[in-house]
Amino acid sequence: MKVSIIGGGGLVGSCAGFALQAGKIVRDITLIDVNQELCEGQALDLLHGASLLADQKITAAPTAAVADSDVVVITAGLRRKPDESRLDLINRNVALFRNILADVKKAGLKKNAICFVVSNPVDVLTYLAIRELGLPPSQVIGLGTVLDTTRLRSMLALRLDVPPTQVQVTILGEHGDSMVPIWSNAQIAGLPLDKFPGVTPAVIAEVEKRTRGSGAEVIKKKGGAGFAVGVSIADVIHSIALDQRRILPVSSLQSGAFGLRDVAISVPTVVGRQGVVGTIEIDLWPKEKIALQNSGNVLKETIAKVL
Ligand code: 2OP
Repeated sequence: MKVSIIGGGGLVGSCAGFALQAGKIVRDITLIDVNQELCEGQALDLLHGASLLADQKITAAPTAAVADSDVVVITAGLRRKPDESRLDLINRNVALFRNILADVKKAGLKKNAICFVVSNPVDVLTYLAIRELGLPPSQVIGLGTVLDTTRLRSMLALRLDVPPTQVQVTILGEHGDSMVPIWSNAQIAGLPLDKFPGVTPAVIAEVEKRTRGSGAEVIKKKGGAGFAVGVSIADVIHSIALDQRRILPVSSLQSGAFGLRDVAISVPTVVGRQGVVGTIEIDLWPKEKIALQNSGNVLKETIAKVL
């Protein structure tokens, strides 16, 4: 499988490239970036490690390389300032994103290509890509709250001193301030979270608060996310590459699940080689369902304003 990463010279794109190389599943990793020298440097740095990892093709290439790609990841965009919300980014990033979409359309895409949006605000830009790329909506997804979910599981594990891979809790909704942690179905090692030793409402609130602020926290300390967003991107791509049909909270166009319609937002989504295979609608606490619908409304208001 060939994966092209637009913005591959940057922190997010190059970390995604490294996560795909270390994952050893995709065959071809192509980095694309306006900063060609940086892009070539990232590809070369990855290539230097190839003999210890996998037999893959790793290159830096112009946008035309998307034409035979199975997955086109778009990470390019301006990063938030620490005190700036993701939606504040929208005006600065919509114009840039529209240009990228135009270049991708000009290059052409395979009929079954998947467009995978990471640039922020990811839900709004996913909706824009669905509207402007001409691919079936099921073939356009956004990273959505996959990164938030990864962070919440990791931060909860850190706080409770349990293995992060055994923490099961998901965040749905906007990748942004209105995101919705689904505590109603949270578990650790298959055991209900609310009965787990050391778990109190205060601990839950503390970890949720830290997760909500994780993007800004990492921007403040190191300028922007890289490693966690990179592995989150690779995890979604691996479900596509192997047609694993894992249930992931990617952002995609909704047509009724949880009362959400005509908005790109994260709900439990079956992800396979064709992109969105289906969505899973489960019972939520009433306050979770209300918060999820509010999140949808926040995004629809923004879409109405800027697109
Ligand atoms: C973050 O939360 C990049 O939006 C991403 O760090």
